[in-house]
Amino acid sequence: MTLSPTLYATLTRYQQRISDALKASFERIAADPATVQSANDLAPYYGQMRYHLGWVDASFTPTSSNPGKLLRPTLLLLAYEAAGAWGLSNEQDYLERALPAAASVELTHNFTLIHDDIVDGDKERRHRRTLWSIWGASHGINSGDGMFALSRLALWDVLEKGVEGEIAARLGRVLDRSCLTLAEGQYLDMSFEDQTEVSTAMYIDMIQRKTAALMACAAEMGAMLGTRDQATIESLRTFGEAIGLAFQVRDDLLGVWATTAELGKTEAGDIYRRKKSLPILHALEQASAEDRARLQQIYQQQEPLSTEQVRTVLECMERTGTRAYCRTFLSQYCQRAYKALAQVPRQNNPVAQRALDDMEVMVRFVEEAAH
Ligand code: IPE
Ligand code: IPE
Ligand code: MG
Ligand code: MG
Repeated sequence: MTLSPTLYATLTRYQQRISDALKASFERIAADPATVQSANDLAPYYGQMRYHLGWVDASFTPTSSNPGKLLRPTLLLLAYEAAGAWGLSNEQDYLERALPAAASVELTHNFTLIHDDIVDGDKERRHRRTLWSIWGASHGINSGDGMFALSRLALWDVLEKGVEGEIAARLGRVLDRSCLTLAEGQYLDMSFEDQTEVSTAMYIDMIQRKTAALMACAAEMGAMLGTRDQATIESLRTFGEAIGLAFQVRDDLLGVWATTAELGKTEAGDIYRRKKSLPILHALEQASAEDRARLQQIYQQQEPLSTEQVRTVLECMERTGTRAYCRTFLSQYCQRAYKALAQVPRQNNPVAQRALDDMEVMVRFVEEAAH
């Protein structure tokens, strides 16, 4: 996917800092005497996690592969700035205070992706093979668990950056709550696969949990590190949630209509997997009796879908105007995100203003899939 220069600048502004913070969390564990003791035996374990993060190839040779968009830690740092960065934004390294939390949300996100790919049976992500498809599901589960624990350990590094103990503890609670909510969302997503009647309202509740919760959490954590003002924290959290909802609708649109080159994974993958994402919910609701019967038969069969059947599903979606519907749906959620952003109390400093501008650019990026 080609990014506009403004978007590129926004998404990459903190890429290096986030990447360094992520690497530091691994280095700290590697230097821990308990790990050093069995360093050779454990190297492949951490190697699997490093592979997933794009730092090494499958034989653990250093490489620099796609690390993902780093949206959540970027959002966290922007929310931190927008909230006033604890009054430190005139100091040189004010970002330090928030970086451990930024690394923490990104590790949390990545642990969920490692597990999600097992659940979804996806063999590709970010243009390369998924961890479980190389080392098997058992290792995938265990590496994901390890990354979950690492994400929590990374968070406690805020204590070394001068963050007050009481705020650190509250950050931990927000992160844990969002992980639980995310797992609830994953449960609902899986359970929808066996249900014939899934409404749009059920879908929105599900994506609010599986995706928007962690985005809301990232924005809230950044804001909590930036200010004690509850109104600011709340409004940034609301923004995170709104962009998270829009972001998942975008992912669902791409999951049906983006090409492999754009996606880094199988084209029309969500149809192959019979995911009850927004497009199919709409098509089932709007199809003629004949098309609905076709779709239901395809979605209920035991065997994997053939290319021909995927084409049939796409043709039914064509007749129901599903793509246009999803695009409108996405635009509406982007409007909510813009509105939420407009509600964030303004700080009188240029760093905070730039952060708000950057957040607007992020919404524009999500919205692009609607065009
Ligand atoms: C993928 O998230 C999972 C969803 C919640 C849709 P991203 O699209 O943010 O994944 P990366 O980290 O950039 O690869
Ligand atoms: C996204 O799940 C949410 C989580 C990973 C928790 P999806 O299954 O919809 O995301 P992709 O399309 O695999 O990235
Ligand atoms: Mg998935
Ligand atoms: Mg999934």
